[in-house]
Amino acid sequence: MMSTRSPILIAPSILSADFGRLAEDVEAAEEAGADWIHVDVMDGHFVPNITIGPGVTEAVRKATSLPVDVHLMIQNPERYVQAFVDAGAHRITVHQEVCPHLHRVLEGIREAGASPGVALNPSTPVESLSEVVQLVDLILVMTVNPGFGGQSFIETSPEKLRRLMALLEVRGDGHLPHIQVDGGVGPGTAPSVVRAGADVLVAGSALYKAPEGLARAMEKLRAAAGGARRVSA
Ligand code: DX5
Ligand code: ZN
Repeated sequence: MMSTRSPILIAPSILSADFGRLAEDVEAAEEAGADWIHVDVMDGHFVPNITIGPGVTEAVRKATSLPVDVHLMIQNPERYVQAFVDAGAHRITVHQEVCPHLHRVLEGIREAGASPGVALNPSTPVESLSEVVQLVDLILVMTVNPGFGGQSFIETSPEKLRRLMALLEVRGDGHLPHIQVDGGVGPGTAPSVVRAGADVLVAGSALYKAPEGLARAMEKLRAAAGGARRVSA
């Protein structure tokens, strides 16, 4: 069995940024070494909160040269894919729970010119993705119930990540999407999710609300995450 390594990527969530100085907060994340910028879109239906749409996404896109990673926590996401691509989204992740025709939605994201991802709520089993794994570049395992920043990490998440990695390995076709985690991720929880297979860490409050400031918080998170995930293939 061969072992491969892929670098750990950090995607700050602008949900915890200061919206009054959003461009500066995005630039600060880039300067601090962020890999992607994570944009949380909520509709007040799929999740209880309402956040931002394509207009603010476009403002983020203009403030950075980093990939813009859009997490759609909305019903009927297929209706908005083109608008987010036009706004500059490089990656678009939709929730499995709102897509009865998930296969079609994921193909549509790629056809529209973005990199497709699929997200799972904490209560949604990894097996629900077995028929679409080959269509995605990223699987997002929610480590809180989506809707708000600053919630506590669900402690059983690493076990779920291990089940997902096992599912991907059993397929044996060599296709290994990014495994992203989102919610309650910080220096304390990063080691366990990386050990379990995650390679993209979304962090909002651990970065933007850190008393020591964003740059130092990024350093701490990166150090805690270690350099790479190790995957057997
Ligand atoms: C949760 C969002 C997250 C959130 C993470 O519904 O998808 O991206 O901003 O925030 P923290 O890191 O504070 O849990
Ligand atoms: Zn998110």
